[in-house]
Amino acid sequence: MNHEEENHENIIENLNHSGLSRRGFLHGMGGMGAFLGMGGLAGSAIAAEAPKDADGKVIPGFEKGQDDPNAAKGWQAVSDRKIRVGIAGYGLCKFGGAFFYQSHPNVEVVAATDLDPGRCAALAKAVGAKKTYPSCEEMIKDKSIEAVYIATDAPSHARLAIMALNHDKHVVSAVPAVFGFEAEGEAEELFNAVKKSGMKYMMNETSTFHADLYAKRLQCQAGALGKVIYSEGEYWHDFGSKGLPGFNPKNGKIDLNGWRRALPPMWYPTHAMAYYVSITGGRFTEVSGVGTAGLYPEYNGGDNQHKNPFGTEIAMLKTSEGGISRMGGSWDMKNAHGEQGRVYGEKPHDKNVSGVRPPLPPSVGAGGHGGSHGQLTNNFIESILLDQMPIVHVGDALNMTLAGVIAHKSALKGGEWMNIPQYDL
Ligand SMILES: NC(=O)c1ccc[n+]([C@@H]2O[C@H](COP(=O)([O-])OP(=O)(O)OC[C@H]3O[C@@H](n4cnc5c(N)ncnc54)[C@H](O)[C@@H]3O)[C@@H](O)[C@H]2O)c1
Repeated sequence: MNHEEENHENIIENLNHSGLSRRGFLHGMGGMGAFLGMGGLAGSAIAAEAPKDADGKVIPGFEKGQDDPNAAKGWQAVSDRKIRVGIAGYGLCKFGGAFFYQSHPNVEVVAATDLDPGRCAALAKAVGAKKTYPSCEEMIKDKSIEAVYIATDAPSHARLAIMALNHDKHVVSAVPAVFGFEAEGEAEELFNAVKKSGMKYMMNETSTFHADLYAKRLQCQAGALGKVIYSEGEYWHDFGSKGLPGFNPKNGKIDLNGWRRALPPMWYPTHAMAYYVSITGGRFTEVSGVGTAGLYPEYNGGDNQHKNPFGTEIAMLKTSEGGISRMGGSWDMKNAHGEQGRVYGEKPHDKNVSGVRPPLPPSVGAGGHGGSHGQLTNNFIESILLDQMPIVHVGDALNMTLAGVIAHKSALKGGEWMNIPQYDL
């Protein structure tokens, strides 16, 4: 962002690198609090079990952050209806329990599932679900469930989302929307399932509700920036020499041979790509990618499960408004950290345009990844209640995800410019 926007930028800088706000953190512990008999959590200081990598470091986005005491200021209920939600996935990041469905006033969490019985029981306890299912596939058949939150491993998102849409359920999915070598086929299928079903589909891109990104989104919507000439975004996260655990379908465990092993950085592109798409609503149209040989043994010159030689990848992109973007992902650079980005328009940032994020229900915390978890959940639920497009709808989700997938394809071919398939409702 522009350096002259000092105050704003300081806030942004802090939020950008923050994880759980204290308020969000406490609310995120709602299930645990109830379990411990600590109903009134506000003000109490309890330690959360934040997810850690193989070196024992807290995974970025889950660090303890700062208070967000104004998150509920001005909030008004839009309905007294409760959406019946089923939640899938309680893996390394315990994401199924970290998005405040259990404390949202317009949600009843009716069911929880994880393939692993222990993780399934823990998720059910965390979100107060009375019913459990042995798999998301089984849960989707439950006709009483109106919406599912898919927080399973990345390779399973599209398949489960398509299945749920085809069972007339609204779907919110953790990132990315589609994955890997299957991504382009999955995108076509996912888009058609959204269109045919008429149900809501949203991708939970956490960058979208970072304070800085959201403020620039409001600038764009107010027409303040003019055309965005250049934007850049990054997801830098050094996985370390041991790698980062993930669900391993071969044994059902969360281990170092799971889906994150030798993951192409541009197969996980959306935290960076959001710094254009979620700000402008514009599209990436063409991409050229480059990569550098992964630093750690798991890359093994490309002899690995994803046939991926790269630990760091950079995408140069053309945008639908005739601008340029540079988006990066890295699992091996030192002193590089965070989901962050910048946009620069033809006109300067207008300080008179409010950049404040929407108010949240008092029982919903802002949460991890820069205070984005509660916002994403509230936006999804309100999109159902008010029959409006969710903030990261299928068009945005597929553009962000496919831009990365095609960038990786391009990097493997030495940087050839490639078109990005376009999907919009
Ligand atoms: N900032 C962010 O947006 C952010 C941060 C962290 C993780 N994530 C995403 O959240 C998701 C979860 O991350 P994680 O690290 O906990 O994943 P993980 O790989 O550790 O765990 C996935 C879990 O899903 C369960 N699962 C897989 N298939 C299932 C099925 N068919 N039915 C029921 N359960 C099933 C597995 O048993 C496992 O417990 C991932 O997709 C990841 O990309 C996003």
